[in-house]
Amino acid sequence: MKAGELLDLAPVIPVVVLDDPDAAVPMARALVAGGLPVIEVTLRTAKALAVIERIAAAVPDAVVGAGTVVGPEDARRAAAAGAKFLVSPGCTDRLREAMTAIDLPFLPGVSSASEAMALLEYDITAMKFFPAGPAGGPDYLKGLGGPLPQIRFCPTGGVTQDNASRYLALPNVACVGGTWLTPADAVRDRDWAHIENLASKAAGLV
Ligand code: 3PG
Repeated sequence: MKAGELLDLAPVIPVVVLDDPDAAVPMARALVAGGLPVIEVTLRTAKALAVIERIAAAVPDAVVGAGTVVGPEDARRAAAAGAKFLVSPGCTDRLREAMTAIDLPFLPGVSSASEAMALLEYDITAMKFFPAGPAGGPDYLKGLGGPLPQIRFCPTGGVTQDNASRYLALPNVACVGGTWLTPADAVRDRDWAHIENLASKAAGLV
């Protein structure tokens, strides 16, 4: 699968920050049941790789990937854990080279025209726009779309159920991502029905 195809699988990619592998499978099942099969597990917790492993092994309908990939070693460890795609908040030459060698769909993060153009030089046209809200929101992304219409973005960072449709209405936005689908209190309380409900509302955004 190419990164561009990954962006077309669902309108919203839940961004998961989870340090509890026992919650991984029921959480992923709730997201898939709600209509959001593409799940980004951030490498921001000590047990994130175990979370990815559990989902990859037990939830075949989920497409689980790793987020917060900030270096080549993160990328290799996530791929070994079963990640089907990789997402980074920004990009460096070393990271791009490692991602290309790993050959998984890869969404490098950008927040400026120059960063996006540097990736275009390598024929990368699917990118994360991060941090979407603080960087300028839908208006900024619309501005990038004028001179760079060939790039398709997944904005994350400050995207919510209430503002997601403003991003999704833009021609250069394929999908959005965010943490609002998996609130910490719902995970703590094992309230999978609530998470499924949040996912199904988000899946209905398009
Ligand atoms: C990410 O890693 O993409 C962001 O931290 C998600 O940000 P959010 O909490 O604002 O959705």
